[in-house]
Amino acid sequence: MARDPLHAALATARRAPTPTSTMHAFALAAERTRDRALARELIELGLSSATTPTDAPLLAQLGDAAEWATWIVLLADRRDRAPAIARWLTHAGRIAQQVTELARAGELALPDVLAGSAPVLHACATIAERQPALATTCEALWQTCSDAVNAQPVAEAARALADRVRDRGWRYAELARAAQRLARRTQVPAATVLELALGTLPLPFGHSDTHERARGRTGHAATAVDAAITAIAHLDLVAGDTFYDLGAGLGLPTCVAALTSTAVCRGVEYHAAYVARASAHARRLGLANARFFAGDATTFDFSDGNKFYLFNPFGPTVLRRVAARLSALARRRPIRIACWHVALPGFDAVISDGPLRVYASSPARSPRRDKLTTSRLPPRAHAP
Ligand SMILES: C[S@@+](CC[C@H](N)C(=O)[O-])C[C@H]1O[C@@H](n2cnc3c(N)ncnc32)[C@H](O)[C@@H]1O
Repeated sequence: MARDPLHAALATARRAPTPTSTMHAFALAAERTRDRALARELIELGLSSATTPTDAPLLAQLGDAAEWATWIVLLADRRDRAPAIARWLTHAGRIAQQVTELARAGELALPDVLAGSAPVLHACATIAERQPALATTCEALWQTCSDAVNAQPVAEAARALADRVRDRGWRYAELARAAQRLARRTQVPAATVLELALGTLPLPFGHSDTHERARGRTGHAATAVDAAITAIAHLDLVAGDTFYDLGAGLGLPTCVAALTSTAVCRGVEYHAAYVARASAHARRLGLANARFFAGDATTFDFSDGNKFYLFNPFGPTVLRRVAARLSALARRRPIRIACWHVALPGFDAVISDGPLRVYASSPARSPRRDKLTTSRLPPRAHAP
């Protein structure tokens, strides 16, 4: 990088043959400078070219919009930049609408639509929070990106699998086999097909991770289907069990638990909008043994549960409070907990496999689990 990144960027931008490469020159300069204020200036300068219509292929435009989404969040808290940001939102909205049309015609692959829209969604959530006057425009852009995903024929076919689960009484194994077949036919990863069928894609408009973390909640990440299957297998769900996903999000692990067992499966989720989506999708899947509740895991009465699942839902303070409640429950009767990405304070893991930990309040475990515990790790079954 030259000594004066601003002038270097301006010089490069002047030589750039297209608006897209002008924009890239500014973005690159902004990326290279360590001076945050200068980066902002560069981004503002680049914005004018970022919103200039171009005849570049739509996929390239989507890529540019995605790249710009990662830069524009740096301006998100600048009220004086609201008009420039609004211009970008409108520009990105136009691209997203064209993407929807091509996606509907099957001319744009689903993974490209998903990858291109992910940073745009992040920008929408962040800008909506920091510039309330732009929240409606952000939500509209988010919706257009979701429409683009839903319009793709593979997405439609994947969602239709949910209806077959209900109509034919499929269990998880049948759904997974149908997802594999669709994946093979369409070159879309089976995991993506399953996420569409199980209702976690496309994501609903929600708060940014930053907003959530400031309130003791983690953001919107959902368990990947394979990870949910692995963790739920460690819970040994049997008839008569009551499973809880504490911080249930859009409900994928609860639906997987309900599709792989006859246990009563419940999800507790702070955001009512996620609960509504999860409940609607469980109904679409015809899952009579899955139910979702709006509530706070620090106060919700989950004392009828004996199998618990947590996918990194809380910050440390909330986690301690929930762990204390689980600990009180564990003193009364055997419980088992599968936990991704966090160690549960006050508990000792009986299984610790990378980011997955399994806790049990009773030494009684199935022979299969004993083998796994003893063969891979020192067995440590403790009542907490
Ligand atoms: C990382 S997501 C995991 C979602 C889901 N369990 C999964 O694995 O797909 C964590 C979820 O926990 C929710 N959450 C965070 N704090 C909560 C609390 N105190 N009570 C209930 N839900 C909470 C968040 O809103 C978010 O939807």
